[in-house]
Amino acid sequence: MRRTIVAGNWKMNTTPAQGVELLEGVAAIKGEAKASVELIVGVPFTHICAVGKAAQGTGIAIAAQNCADHAKGAYTGEVSAEMLASMGVEYVILGHSERREYYGETSETLNKKIELVYQNGMSPIYCIGEKQQEREANRQNEVCRAQIQEVVFNLTPEQFEKLIIAYEPVWAIGTGLTATDDQAQEIHHYIRQVLAEKFGEQAASKCPILYGGSCKPSNAKGLFEKADVDGGLIGGASLNAQDFVGIAKAF
Ligand code: G3P
Repeated sequence: MRRTIVAGNWKMNTTPAQGVELLEGVAAIKGEAKASVELIVGVPFTHICAVGKAAQGTGIAIAAQNCADHAKGAYTGEVSAEMLASMGVEYVILGHSERREYYGETSETLNKKIELVYQNGMSPIYCIGEKQQEREANRQNEVCRAQIQEVVFNLTPEQFEKLIIAYEPVWAIGTGLTATDDQAQEIHHYIRQVLAEKFGEQAASKCPILYGGSCKPSNAKGLFEKADVDGGLIGGASLNAQDFVGIAKAF
């Protein structure tokens, strides 16, 4: 049975106090969704202590949105995987298109980061997805394949078992444009086929592949009904407890 996961990515939004209030709001109504649906919230570094404390006992897991590509040392301003793990962080979002676009995230740095996430006992949520012009050129498969081969193919089978993939078409992030249910299924199925080339059909069939990009309560049901869509990585809608749980209720 494949995991079903709804993960929020709060990005650079809310203060820690607002984050605690948001987490408490989600915890108060999460029972409206099936217990089998896993909830994760991806919070800014500044929120991990307070929001992590509020999440204790709720079943809601904490994710960081990034980590350093070095274990420790003279890297001013960075936050290490070890630091995150010591604070109870279970997941780390890596390779988000905003970090690739604005901060020059490359497969080279992502390979270093993903290893550090595993070394510290956490699980990566590895983001892939094509840009508008790549979709218009029908190059989405090529782009996603490269992003998988350059990072995921370097994982051991044991590491792969803990991986979560998020397919996020860049043209759908924050735009209100959502991939159609069939578009999502087509690329998710292709991603799973690529994973199977390296790790085999059985292991690939177990890897959760989340959809991200303007996923809302109004469109989540159609997306989540698709065979290879195992949940969502949610931006804007994760900043509202009703909307975030409303998406989880789509399962
Ligand atoms: O990581 C999830 C995010 O990129 C999707 O954003 O606002 O389109 O749900 P949004």
